[in-house]
Amino acid sequence: MSTLEARAVSKIYEMNGAEIRAVDNLSLQVGDGEFVALVGPSGSGKTTMLALLAGLLLPDAGEVLINGNSLRTMSKAKLAAFRLSQIGFTFQSNNLVPYLTVQENVELMLRLNGTFDKKGRERTIDLLRRLDLGDRLGNLPSQLSGGQQQRVAIARALVHEPSIVLADEPTASLDTGRAHQVVSTLARLIHEQGRAGVMVSHDLRMCAYADRVLQMEDGRLSRVLTERSEIEALAHVTHAEEHADALA
Ligand SMILES: Nc1ncnc2c1ncn2[C@@H]1O[C@H](COP(=O)(O)OP(=O)(O)O)[C@@H](O)[C@H]1O
Ligand SMILES: [Mg+2]
Repeated sequence: MSTLEARAVSKIYEMNGAEIRAVDNLSLQVGDGEFVALVGPSGSGKTTMLALLAGLLLPDAGEVLINGNSLRTMSKAKLAAFRLSQIGFTFQSNNLVPYLTVQENVELMLRLNGTFDKKGRERTIDLLRRLDLGDRLGNLPSQLSGGQQQRVAIARALVHEPSIVLADEPTASLDTGRAHQVVSTLARLIHEQGRAGVMVSHDLRMCAYADRVLQMEDGRLSRVLTERSEIEALAHVTHAEEHADALA
């Protein structure tokens, strides 16, 4: 069972005596095999919200629950261990270790949480094959394209079988074709494996792969789209607008 729940979470930053409400009383729930896109303009609080969901930041109010366990009540040590076993995270920059091979980068996740074994190695290789990287196991990250590196990062976020998968701008450095490939693969694995997934993106076209789209503005949810037709219209209209921009 994978469930991710945020109950009325807020995060306030202080800058030169002024308060910035980066996340303002936001609630959401993501279930088994559900892939949610969190979109919105730069500065709307997306990364802060993802960090709250991951337990990397603690909210000033409200709480986050993973599979019914509140992150707020955990000790620092318990939270760190819980995060390593239950959460897969991909960062905006892919954060691969440059001197480790593709396979070693993915297995590192298992070594970090102390679960590396023969089965873990089999799972690593299987996952990399499914992400079309079967012939790249021994390569260094620098020998891969941007899209391939992002797929290694996805393998690393899934290999320890976390219940929650969080991706912050997984397509930030990719061209359109590779962006579609990366997000469609991420969505497929989340659906197949029954994880609860949240992806942050500023690229509305990527919403096409989500089951639900949450739009943020000034730390709050401004709009929630659940209907397939609405989601596709959002992803598609934006695409048309970008073409218009390119032609103008
Ligand atoms: N560490 C921080 N200290 C102070 N303000 C921050 C910090 N991180 C983010 N902010 C501010 O919080 C708001 C939300 O930022 P962020 O979550 O990064 O938004 P997004 O990912 O949607 O661009 C912005 O106004 C940003 O400037
Ligand atoms: Mg961000």
